[in-house]
Amino acid sequence: MNPDKERTLVIVKPDGVQRGLIGEVVSRLERRGLKIVGVKMLKMDDGLAAKHYEAHVGKPFYEPLAKFMTSSPVVAVAAQGRGAVRLVRNMMGALSPEESAAGTIRGDFAVSKRYNVVHGSDSPESGEREVSLFFSPDEIFDYDRDIDNWLRQE
Ligand code: TYD
Ligand code: MG
Repeated sequence: MNPDKERTLVIVKPDGVQRGLIGEVVSRLERRGLKIVGVKMLKMDDGLAAKHYEAHVGKPFYEPLAKFMTSSPVVAVAAQGRGAVRLVRNMMGALSPEESAAGTIRGDFAVSKRYNVVHGSDSPESGEREVSLFFSPDEIFDYDRDIDNWLRQE
């Protein structure tokens, strides 16, 4: 796999959409230099929630999490770039509101473990899997940007 084409799935969760934070989240990804290669609004259903959070099905927090994620539309964003997964994880901040640093998305906008504005894939493999769950191949656009010459990912 080309390391410059590492992909991560970012989701602006229902609370983020309701609070008017779509632009805030997408803007942070763009400002960092990540390439947006797919974007859509959708309402997740139980099946998609179970596939997306397959590692968490059966855990005590899963049912309320699935209820929350399916309660209102989300915005799914496929972001691409070298190290995209870890870049986004760092930009998201920690899950626990006591630990998410100021300057991160969760550290700036969330006080809850569940209502935490944003999802980001936790490994390149999850990134590929999750992007394919939310997007068909013809919804992903791997276009060239002149600005990439000035971002110098090396
Ligand atoms: P997880 O993958 O551990 O966190 P992250 O979103 O940082 O990758 O958990 C997925 C989601 O499940 C998390 O965003 C919110 C919810 N969750 C809870 O509500 N309570 C919990 O104790 C945990 C671990 C997760
Ligand atoms: Mg996770």
